[in-house]
Amino acid sequence: MKQEALEKIILETIDIPSLPPVAMKVLQLISNDSSSLDELEDILEKDQSFSARLLRIANSPYYGKNRSVDSIGKAIILIGFNTMKSLVVAASLRDMHRKFGIFEQKLWEHGLAVSIAASQIATDTKMLKPDEALVCGLVHDMGKIVLNTSLSDTYSMVIERIYAEQGLSFIDIENEMLGFNHCNVGGLIARKWKLPKNLEAVIEFHHTDKPPIFDDPSYEASCQLIRIADAICLHIGIGFKREIDLYTLGLEYIGYNEKQVQDLIERVKKAYVEQKTSLME
Ligand SMILES: [Fe+2]
Ligand SMILES: [Fe+2]
Repeated sequence: MKQEALEKIILETIDIPSLPPVAMKVLQLISNDSSSLDELEDILEKDQSFSARLLRIANSPYYGKNRSVDSIGKAIILIGFNTMKSLVVAASLRDMHRKFGIFEQKLWEHGLAVSIAASQIATDTKMLKPDEALVCGLVHDMGKIVLNTSLSDTYSMVIERIYAEQGLSFIDIENEMLGFNHCNVGGLIARKWKLPKNLEAVIEFHHTDKPPIFDDPSYEASCQLIRIADAICLHIGIGFKREIDLYTLGLEYIGYNEKQVQDLIERVKKAYVEQKTSLME
């Protein structure tokens, strides 16, 4: 189906949510050259839990080594404008859930695991900056959050089938039951929200073996890294679990042999336990 026709169907089916207000305001401010850090800090002071979450991600060991970011102003200077935008989106995901039950918890655990795996692979291969890999991992399944909140009755049937028919992927069940999937929805929303282009690419193409050719070649690396990290985390079973033959994944893309994959799996499990509490709140 043509992209336009597909987007039309999605728009007719779901209400496109807006980003949480604090995230919207922050994105607007950092996009506007004339706004000051004071203004930004004013907004964030009003939402302590959001700003605490933002700083927690910025200080994650997978975000950058030995970095101590204790203020948003410092974060922008250290991290840079584009990555800061991605970070704001990652920090606001939790507020997009209407409720936070078992499925939402699993989705969050899966996103965290994928972000850890992706930043480990990024560190090993130098294909991407670990900080970029981390935010890409956190937001890659944003389309699922939107479907789960905007189309909750139908999506709860998708979720039931995921639990009941192990081995099937979200994409397969979504396509069958909705006619589109979380990547289509996520890509559309990333464009509506004018998210950074690398995030848009990952959100839309993280389940595609051969993503399209992008203007910036690093976007393909982001998509492939998240695709592989996603499969490895499903194999481990953090959040969601699905039987996956890791050796049909195209691991040559990241240049790992069998032993390196096993080593990565162990590192991800360990890092996940260490990171879970600090990034969960
Ligand atoms: Fe996905
Ligand atoms: Fe995923």
